[in-house]
Amino acid sequence: MDYSREKDIFEDIDMESEEEAEFQYLIEAAEEARRNAYCPYSGFSVGAAVLTEDGFVYLGSNIENASYPLGNCAERTAIFKAVSEGNRKFRAIAISGGPDEQPGHAECPPCGACRQVMREFFGGDAKVIFSGKGKSYHTMTLDELLPKSFGPENL
Ligand code: THU
Repeated sequence: MDYSREKDIFEDIDMESEEEAEFQYLIEAAEEARRNAYCPYSGFSVGAAVLTEDGFVYLGSNIENASYPLGNCAERTAIFKAVSEGNRKFRAIAISGGPDEQPGHAECPPCGACRQVMREFFGGDAKVIFSGKGKSYHTMTLDELLPKSFGPENL
């Protein structure tokens, strides 16, 4: 499947549960995105796939820099790509990451900065999908990952 552009995620999918289909699709997409990670300094590659409220998917990978602090995480790459193309609301994000020499299906919890960026555009019940071994995965809501958070309503 071509995950490289936004598309209707139910195309090509024949599964019983819509949610299950969405999550599996997003995990595969995150793993695909991970292949484009630019991580020569850490050797830790990450891919993310974010699902907009309208059902479109945007991919992101981590992008490091010789000036180390300028590197960007996969989740923020995906979210910023989507927001810069006019999307402001999201339902879910899948993340897959780990040491570069172990590609595919690895759990990578989002860092604090990425959780805060999610907080700007995701509802508290939006799902963060952690890729696991094989076809396994588990999900947490953003509220669970970032309780008592600071957001636009606090200003
Ligand atoms: N990284 C991500 O892309 N997402 C995360 O949530 C955790 C960390 C990246 C940043 C850096 O390029 C590498 O993983 C090692 O920290």
